[in-house]
Amino acid sequence: MATETQQHAIDTMLLEERRYEAAPDFARQANAQPEIYERDWQEFWETEGRERVTWFEPFTELYEWNPPYAKWYLGGKLNVCFNCVDRHVEAGRGGQVAYYWEGEPEGERREIRFADLQRDVVRFANALKGLGVRKGTPVAIYMGMVPELPVAMLACTRLGAPHTVVFGGFSAESLADRMNDMECEVLITQDEGWRAGKTVPLKRNADEAVANASTVKKVVTLRRTGNDVPFDESRDVWWHEAVDGQSADAESCPCEPMDSEDLLYLLYTSGTTAKPKGIIHTTAGYLVGVAATHHYIFDVKPDSVYWCAADVGWVTGHSYIVYGPLCNGTTGVLYEGVPNYPNPERWWEIIERYKVDILYTAPTAIRSHMKWGPEHAQKHDLSSLRLLGSVGEPINPEAWVWYREHIGGDRTPVVDTWWQTETGMILITPLPGITTLKPGSATKPFPGVDAAVYSENGQTVGPGGGGYLVLKRPWPAMLRGIYKDDERYRETYWSKYEDVYFAGDGARVDEDGDFWLLGRVDDVMNVSGHRISTIEIESALVDHKKVAEAAVCGRKDERTGQAIVAYVTLKGGDEGSIDMLEELRNHVGTKIGPIAKPANIVFTPELPKTRSGKIMRRLLRDVAENRALGDTTTLADPTVVEEIKERAATEAPEE
Ligand code: PRX
Repeated sequence: MATETQQHAIDTMLLEERRYEAAPDFARQANAQPEIYERDWQEFWETEGRERVTWFEPFTELYEWNPPYAKWYLGGKLNVCFNCVDRHVEAGRGGQVAYYWEGEPEGERREIRFADLQRDVVRFANALKGLGVRKGTPVAIYMGMVPELPVAMLACTRLGAPHTVVFGGFSAESLADRMNDMECEVLITQDEGWRAGKTVPLKRNADEAVANASTVKKVVTLRRTGNDVPFDESRDVWWHEAVDGQSADAESCPCEPMDSEDLLYLLYTSGTTAKPKGIIHTTAGYLVGVAATHHYIFDVKPDSVYWCAADVGWVTGHSYIVYGPLCNGTTGVLYEGVPNYPNPERWWEIIERYKVDILYTAPTAIRSHMKWGPEHAQKHDLSSLRLLGSVGEPINPEAWVWYREHIGGDRTPVVDTWWQTETGMILITPLPGITTLKPGSATKPFPGVDAAVYSENGQTVGPGGGGYLVLKRPWPAMLRGIYKDDERYRETYWSKYEDVYFAGDGARVDEDGDFWLLGRVDDVMNVSGHRISTIEIESALVDHKKVAEAAVCGRKDERTGQAIVAYVTLKGGDEGSIDMLEELRNHVGTKIGPIAKPANIVFTPELPKTRSGKIMRRLLRDVAENRALGDTTTLADPTVVEEIKERAATEAPEE
């Protein structure tokens, strides 16, 4: 056992045996046909590169790999905005809707056609030019989910100005850090945002940030709520005044021809140290990667209405709300607010109204809907849905099945897509119509992608064993490094194994070659010498009919090294009891084995989550070990963790 444990790096114990074959009628019409897996990987990316995007000058070399740095589509010239906007209008599709936008306050709706998008982007790009933005000028964007957010991003790409979008929920300090690192010269923001019926003080935060970011010379502010906000005449410009009188003619602001490897954007992601990492994405490989994956994985059709319910401030929004879908000329939905405003029916109303056929969201949102109950979805006609997607965290099998049954009418495929800010595009995923689906498994590497699971010492782990997820060859949308920090880039991703990308996630591969993601390596616990991942225990807990959500972490234990602590939210607001605690411990014991029984269970009405919906196990570990709480600024609701602390203190001690 000991040697096996060493060899596998992580023990995996939870078995999920439900299978969903592809339906023949879906398979027949699917964008991806089985031969896709037989294609030579270089031929695949070469063809995608040539056909998926329009080039001003064709590329001459597919890729160059000087580990750990890759270049793709060398020698090519293209423009992202041209591919996402202008070429669709030129092809006569200007009348097609690019975004159906729903504001959070009820009844606020806009339809933005591709021709409208072109007009708005050209006018705003002309306005930015007037403010001194040129090819290479770094621009920061700090906005809510309004149509002007993609407009601002596209205007930057039109001019060849790299952007960094900072999620509107981040603080002034986070914004300043990012602007300083990128040396941004212009900031685009809005007066306020809407979130859960309340206003978010974006301009005030922006002002506070700019006070500590001396490179920023101009601030463009969109009027959204119309409430009074501070305004500095010498530095600030209103969006509506800046575009006033600007030409909307595409010729007045031609798309800048960019080199394939020119910087497209930086997106900052948190790491183990306080300083966020500026993940570098460049032009051609990124665009080809996101457009190709979007086409095959979401099976988008010319008449699709596709809704990725993430925030544009995260990589999911960059790749699968803005660049991938627009490059493919897809009609999308953009929703400004939270899923339960004014009530938990909001999403289902939106799907019914626009006849959405593809929905892409995160496990945390799915579990929230589970908690609110299926009756909200039942009140709406969701029969337009053809495909569901999940991203951001491992999805518990119970949540997967709930999603398919209650949202997908027990007919739609569910694609569980694994990727990262760093990977730029989806890398491990089912292809609908081909793949036999397994709840909880992201299944297979995307065509052209080479993934594996390695042991501690770099050996491939066989079926059933747990280890570390690695990527063995470069892919077009991969990060080109960490901005201004070569050493950290090498250290974080390329030092554990030679010339192989270390993703930092645990995984196992089963007998069919399907991947099961086990969460971040930091979330692995060591109980009596067994390295157990949190996701398997959480999934066993969520499998219990009374449990809505669960988060698990380890705490120090003299006897077993670490002991398992679970935080559980019950359905229907149930408070929990000692009996329930015992029932859940036994349930985990039956599903996985006695070793996985939590030593303690804390019942709580909410779990601490980041604003992108990830459970913050680091804070739960602080609570479990009775330590002062670490940084809580990235929490969506900081009060949650205080409440958990109180409950943990009054919880029954372990046996
Ligand atoms: O741990 C994995 C988890 O999210 C991490 C990447 O987070 P971020 O850069 O914020 O990007 C999120 C959106 C792409 C990964 O290292 N993760 C993401 N998708 C999945 C996942 N874990 C399991 N299954 C997934 N489908």
